[in-house]
Amino acid sequence: MDIRVLQPSDLPLIQHANLENLPENYFLKYYLYHAMTWPQLSYVAVDVSRPQKTPYDHPTIVGYVLAKMEEEPADGVQHGHITSLSVMRTHRRLGIAEKLMRQAQLAMVENFGAHYVSLHVRVSNQAAIHLYCQTLGFRNEKTELKYYADGEDAYSMRLELSDLRLQVEGERKEVKDAKEAKDGKDTEDKEEEDKDEGEPVGEAGSAASVAAAAAAAAADKDKKVKVKVGRALGVGELVERVESKAA
Ligand code: ACO
Repeated sequence: MDIRVLQPSDLPLIQHANLENLPENYFLKYYLYHAMTWPQLSYVAVDVSRPQKTPYDHPTIVGYVLAKMEEEPADGVQHGHITSLSVMRTHRRLGIAEKLMRQAQLAMVENFGAHYVSLHVRVSNQAAIHLYCQTLGFRNEKTELKYYADGEDAYSMRLELSDLRLQVEGERKEVKDAKEAKDGKDTEDKEEEDKDEGEPVGEAGSAASVAAAAAAAAADKDKKVKVKVGRALGVGELVERVESKAA
């Protein structure tokens, strides 16, 4: 199973899964609004045991979480909201919903610094209530009467993300410290390298040996060495021939 961020091309499949699993359905443009406005927050579970045979095959999406940030929070506190979550019947009770929810929560903190996440759930939805309260630690804030179109009440739930914020801040600090330590070490190494370049290194680096090497090079320049030219190839005859004598 692969949990990955939702892509716009997944939207018709998400809409299909939503129609299969929930009575609360939305126009495609509402999904698109989520994907375009908060592209980091919504995730899909893809069954990769049945890979695509051609590039035109669509992925087997078995679950999704559609999430957003509250645009005008009444309490003025930056927080996320779970718009919709569902897992196909064939893939339930495998921990997929839990993973999707945790991934969305992490993304809310990492990308938007969310302080908490909220959602609504039907008072009769035992599976979802177990997931939210027992598994993930949400608490029921209040009951909203006749929240749903068919007249059913909703629990309005929320989960504080302070632990997750601390964890993310800790991880970021670790990365920052490690980077600073690495940058500091690189600077030290560079200084050491630069220092080396200016110093005489062994015998070759001393002023006396540099002067001796220069004198030897000058002497080499004046020294004449006899070399064989390509007489065997007939070249010698050509270059040595004096044209006036020949005439
Ligand atoms: N009854 C009791 N507990 C259940 C049930 C169930 N039918 N199904 C799952 N659980 C428990 C699991 O045992 C697990 O508990 P544990 O952590 O104590 O072991 C926990 O819930 C999480 O289980 P997952 O395997 O992660 O959940 P799953 O992938 O099966 O998905 C979901 C749960 C999303 C509620 C699924 O049943 C579903 O799609 N239902 C229909 C759609 C729906 O109700 N969506 C939520 C609507 S609310 C909203 O969208 C904001």
